Amino acid sequence: MSFLPAIRKRLAEHGQEHLLAFYDQLDAPQKARLLEQVAAIDFEQLSGLIRSHVLSRPQVRLPEHVLPPPIRPARPSDPASVAAYDSARRRGEELISRGKVAALVVAGGAGTRLGFDGPKGCLPVTAVKGKSLFQVFAEQLLATQRRYGAVVPWYVMTSLSNDQTTRRFFAENDFFGLDPSDVLFFAQGQMPALSFDGKVLLAEKDQLAWSPDGHGGCLPALRRSGALEDMARRGVEYISYFQVDNPLVRCVDPLFIGLHAEAGAGMSAKVLPKRQPKEKLGNFCTVDGRVTVIEYSDLPDELAFATRDDGTLVFNAGSIAIHVLSRWLVEELTAGGACRLPFHRADKEVPYIDANGDRVQPEEPNAAKLEMFIFDALPMSRESVLLQTLRGEEFSPVKNQQGEDSLVTCLRDQIARAGLWLASAGVSVPRDAQGQVAAAIEISPLLALDAEELAAKLPPGLTIKPGQEVYLE
Ligand code: UD1
Repeated sequence: MSFLPAIRKRLAEHGQEHLLAFYDQLDAPQKARLLEQVAAIDFEQLSGLIRSHVLSRPQVRLPEHVLPPPIRPARPSDPASVAAYDSARRRGEELISRGKVAALVVAGGAGTRLGFDGPKGCLPVTAVKGKSLFQVFAEQLLATQRRYGAVVPWYVMTSLSNDQTTRRFFAENDFFGLDPSDVLFFAQGQMPALSFDGKVLLAEKDQLAWSPDGHGGCLPALRRSGALEDMARRGVEYISYFQVDNPLVRCVDPLFIGLHAEAGAGMSAKVLPKRQPKEKLGNFCTVDGRVTVIEYSDLPDELAFATRDDGTLVFNAGSIAIHVLSRWLVEELTAGGACRLPFHRADKEVPYIDANGDRVQPEEPNAAKLEMFIFDALPMSRESVLLQTLRGEEFSPVKNQQGEDSLVTCLRDQIARAGLWLASAGVSVPRDAQGQVAAAIEISPLLALDAEELAAKLPPGLTIKPGQEVYLE
């Protein structure tokens, strides 16, 4: 092991020599495993981040001139805008038909808040069939491919801890009808968890404490994994990005893609009016003419509560993590292999091996995790379209075990949307005294991707009785 002294020296230069404290107690495979992990760290980058993010807290300085951004309405009202939306939708449809559009789901998160044992995408979520999140997206993509007669390749970002289970889940379910060669998995990167005095933590004597590098990690991972090259080979120009936790998302929205393409944008976003000033959504703002997201925790109250003369909030545009990215932007931000997104710090409880070799399970946050956020790419994009959407149509994530954004609220919202689509197609939908749909209704994406398609395809004479389970396919 002639290179061991060199590794020890390198670790010592960066104040991380404790990583080999138990080296002599390990057997040969364990030694190799540990050294391989140490070798994977870019210590120059890490030491810089420790200085800027761990030993001192990054100062979140609010820019001086923060303005509300221009937002396109969900439904245009005047004839000129109606015509512009129609033309953008046609442009989006044409791009999909020509194979210029791919889908990207970020599914690398640990999902700790939900407490589900397995990748979150495997969680059963639908009202009647209990389809998983992955199946809901897969069927939408299959329906989109059939509608437009073109392939929409699907890039699925996993993390090292859920990559194998995710791949197996797709294989066991025959890729939900998709062609396996059009579903491409790639694992995001990881960053070591750091104690507050800047030391990399050991999860085991032969294992560093790693955690995923944030959803922004999809950009360098797309490059590193060859997925970006694959997109170029296929002629993909636009990437429709969504999170794994929201089954209402329209995975590929022709209008949104068309508006983005017509504006020559690098990255665009869908927007929801916030339910209240402090709702836990990122806030869209304009800083120096560029669209920027300010996290809810960083938005001062005087901005969060600021109102216009008509009483509406000035900063009312919440981020729901639905984007279109142009491939050129991803190429640009990851040129040369480095990623231009900044890191953010989150303090978490991370189990670790202490100096005596004992395992510690902390009750309080003891470690800083470093993550990149995808929305930090927005101000680096030359142009952005912000398109308002409707909460009931497109956003009801599963994040928590109970209360807001739980499986219960998500099921309620899926059924409510199915009820709206049916009602708009002229079907009478039973409702309870509170106005909630009083039946379990599930509409397969393979039948309809939107209300218009449902109206065109509905079986004649459909009736729904209170308490009935209805699956439409
Ligand atoms: C996120 C956004 C918030 C937005 C909300 C909408 C941040 C910091 N906040 O909040 O502005 O309003 O979603 O639902 O992003 N993921 C990975 N790898 C990671 C980390 C996350 O793939 O390393 C994926 C998760 O699988 C999930 C998504 O990113 O699909 C969101 O992650 P999560 O940590 O749940 O974000 P939120 O705090 O809910």
